[in-house]
Amino acid sequence: MKKVLIVFGTRPEAIKMAPLVKEFEKYPESFDTRVCVTAQHREMLDQVLTFFDVQPQYDLDLMKPGQDLYGLTAAIITELKPVLEDFKPDFVFVHGDTTTTMASSIAGFYSGAKVCHIEAGLRTHNKYAPFPEEINRQITGRVTDFHFSPTEASQENLLRENIDPKSIIVTGNTVIDALLQSVEKVKREPSDLVSDLDKGLNGASLILVTGHRRENHGDGFIRICEALKTIALHRPELEIIYPVHLNPKVLEPVNRILGDINNIQLINPLAYHDFIWMMDRAKIIITDSGGVQEEAPSLGKPVLVMRETTERPEAVDAGTVILVGTDTDKIIRETFALLDDEEHFKEMSSRHNPYGDGKACGRIVRFMRELGEN
Ligand code: UD1
Ligand code: UDP
Repeated sequence: MKKVLIVFGTRPEAIKMAPLVKEFEKYPESFDTRVCVTAQHREMLDQVLTFFDVQPQYDLDLMKPGQDLYGLTAAIITELKPVLEDFKPDFVFVHGDTTTTMASSIAGFYSGAKVCHIEAGLRTHNKYAPFPEEINRQITGRVTDFHFSPTEASQENLLRENIDPKSIIVTGNTVIDALLQSVEKVKREPSDLVSDLDKGLNGASLILVTGHRRENHGDGFIRICEALKTIALHRPELEIIYPVHLNPKVLEPVNRILGDINNIQLINPLAYHDFIWMMDRAKIIITDSGGVQEEAPSLGKPVLVMRETTERPEAVDAGTVILVGTDTDKIIRETFALLDDEEHFKEMSSRHNPYGDGKACGRIVRFMRELGEN
């Protein structure tokens, strides 16, 4: 029996780890599987736990309003110690690039467990973009024993860092597993919340927006909001819906600059199923999110990505996303191009999603079952 501890803390990690938890739980004779949430996020994490019906055995309940990286990193490492001493896992699974990922991988390493990294090998090689995620990934990569890479490009990044090829497994991204397991039900049974939002749109074209990256805080967010304001004022016939991230550094400029515009609706973060429904309803998505740019192409939606550089070059190469940074003019120009040029819109909407086939979790768990058998 292999003891597996799955650790996560934020909304995107939860979405991408929930199908993995469910896959491990299919094999109780092979794995003693437990979940520990750091609760780096609280409400936004709980929305996902409820949707996927994941009940963590350990909840560190760490989120503090306006938390900083120093306190959060220290708290995660310190508070994981008793969990690791209690359960004594053989394997600690972490996901992606957050502070939870980096700190939990170090704690797992200290405990003597093998560290397993899901969504391994994404790189920009720019230590400040995304900040601090690029360095979180690199640190996690150093202490990881098994690297589950979503694509061959991410595998290549690890090989260039002299990681043992036998420790890298290319699986596809688990975000597609989560999406494909949910999307049909979500489309069939929209919640009252999204049904009401949809009625309010009166058939208007919808632009869906999300944004939260630390490197965009401050001037970047002001430029993003100015672009959205211009788009809304020039195109009164369309609607913009923006579920605003709960980080106070995001809430403040967004509410101040966009609070009074008739065709912009600022709403609370949507539960995952409602957000999928909204992505499907949208014509265009404008975002700085990693997860959204991986999901949206599966729904045939063009994505404008508000980042200067990307650790997801597959999406740019596949033509499913365009990088617009936080340049006000570029965001406006590329949005109008998609709205006005039907061929360009069709071209972007019909591209193939490079992030997987929805079977990533099956591949990960099969690898873990076979591990040590030969
Ligand atoms: C974090 C991750 C980022 C990830 C993002 C996903 C780090 C450094 N950043 O950024 O990589 O892309 O999550 O959304 O790990 N808050 C709430 N309720 C919540 C969640 C957040 O009130 O459910 C507020 C709190 O005031 C909190 C603040 O947002 O202190 C910042 O949260 P934090 O996790 O530190 O940073 P994010 O910007 O969410
Ligand atoms: N998401 C959600 N509700 C929202 C906005 C996003 O459930 O209101 C989901 C989205 O489907 C994606 C994930 O959250 O799977 C992305 O999270 P976020 O943008 O916070 O983080 P990132 O992906 O940039 O790390």
